[in-house]
Amino acid sequence: MLDVSFLPVPDENQHDPKIGMQGWGYLPYNNPQLHEWVANIGKKYKIKTVFEIGTFAGYSTTLFLEHLYHLDKIKTIDPNNFSVGAGAALKKKYGHRVEYQKITSTFYVKSTGEHYDMVFIDGSHNGNVPYLDIQLALSFKPKVIMMDNIELPDVQRAVKKSGLFDLIHDPDYFYYTNEHRGRRQPGILGVFT
Ligand SMILES: C[S@@+](CC[C@H](N)C(=O)[O-])C[C@H]1O[C@@H](n2cnc3c(N)ncnc32)[C@H](O)[C@@H]1O
Repeated sequence: MLDVSFLPVPDENQHDPKIGMQGWGYLPYNNPQLHEWVANIGKKYKIKTVFEIGTFAGYSTTLFLEHLYHLDKIKTIDPNNFSVGAGAALKKKYGHRVEYQKITSTFYVKSTGEHYDMVFIDGSHNGNVPYLDIQLALSFKPKVIMMDNIELPDVQRAVKKSGLFDLIHDPDYFYYTNEHRGRRQPGILGVFT
């Protein structure tokens, strides 16, 4: 079980009607296989720092804080007003291990030499943003990029355009299948350099 009881509970008002119900129950945060998958990545690649695009209610942030064994610090960003409450709840529980910033990824201003061991991309899944998010992720020189919703067309296009990995042929990608909108399909992709 992942304890998310300290996080604010989203209702339909916290969802973007253009995108549909998002961030709520899509990540199978209570799935022990997902915990194990995340934990193994954390151990294998010694993930100490994470940058997350798309905090929403703080579920994935909590998942990483609880299951990435070596994690010292996660920075998570989201322009959503609702996420301000999630950021505050995360800070209260995890203190200096979490930093939330209310900002859109495309406006994010990097500090010189800012680096993260892993980047989790789960912000906008539309238009050019997934591509720009991959470019931002790459600029942090991470060992791992994990990306949610690779079943969505703009996300797939972004992945291919970045030349990072081919969804079908690259043997190095990690592929996690989860339940999304009632269908079994790819949910999270990790690329390892
Ligand atoms: C699917 S939810 C994130 C769910 C969260 N990662 C989890 O698994 O619990 C997507 C979030 O991304 C945010 N978002 C959309 N575009 C963004 C962007 N360009 N930069 C950062 N966050 C963005 C939305 O406000 C929304 O809260």
